[in-house]
Amino acid sequence: MTHDEFAGKVAFVTGAAGGIGRATAIAFAAAGADVAVTDINLDELARTVELIEQHGVRALGTGCDVTNGEQIESALTRTINTFGRLDIAFNNAGVEQPVAPLVDIPEHDWDRLVATNLKSVFLCMKHQIPHLLSTGGGSIVNTSSGAGVIGIRGQSAYTAVKHGVIGMTKSAALDYAAQGIRINAICPGIIETPMMDRFSGGTPEGRARVIAQEPVGRMGRPEEVASAVLWLSSDLGAFTTGHALVIDGGQTVGL
Ligand code: NAI
Repeated sequence: MTHDEFAGKVAFVTGAAGGIGRATAIAFAAAGADVAVTDINLDELARTVELIEQHGVRALGTGCDVTNGEQIESALTRTINTFGRLDIAFNNAGVEQPVAPLVDIPEHDWDRLVATNLKSVFLCMKHQIPHLLSTGGGSIVNTSSGAGVIGIRGQSAYTAVKHGVIGMTKSAALDYAAQGIRINAICPGIIETPMMDRFSGGTPEGRARVIAQEPVGRMGRPEEVASAVLWLSSDLGAFTTGHALVIDGGQTVGL
């Protein structure tokens, strides 16, 4: 990817205060885009803004809870007012589910997972697509998971919503394919982020347990997910829409 691949373009990223969202926001900046970043963690979001600006592009940080349609709408309005347009959206914010068999998942955890990981993607696309249509199109990438393509023991709620992201991505891609908007999903495997630290417990044993799921024998780096998002969002991916791209070191290939 050249340093000016996205020059003149504006990217909007949710869940950009750390992990995959931050790495992808920085990768867009390194490739020349102005980047609007959003999150509920304002301290770490401010750090992401600094890291973007180090690439000589413009950054805009906005507090935004992706479970709230009004906050998403106003973060997008602020983006348009600041940068004048929207070309790319990466709908990535999400939360993990504590490991538990279905019966032991509290109803409030189900509701939280649906709101943060699934309804959020619907709300983001609902408010982004009119802006993309107004400039003739663009690209949306939604974050699903390896849990979007296989079942995972102890992860019924997370798996349900991540499968849902892929279904919604495919249908929305069909809705807007003829109008110049490409909509794809990514399905990361075990990626070294604050979420994975919480999920594994961050101990050597916990890390070894999750790495054991990875045929390549290591966790993925957030930057290795970012490069896939950039490819999907660039002209290199111009004929790709409605696709769920697995980036997982072989985790979901077989047992
Ligand atoms: P992370 O926890 O490191 O980052 C997620 C970000 O989302 C955080 O900055 C958090 O503050 C933000 N966030 C959480 N709830 C929010 C809300 N209601 N509104 C706005 N922002 C909110 O997680 P990571 O690992 O970077 O995950 C990013 C995405 O990738 C998530 O959708 C996750 O489900 C998905 N994913 C992660 C994998 C991994 O191994 N780390 C594997 C597969 C998918």
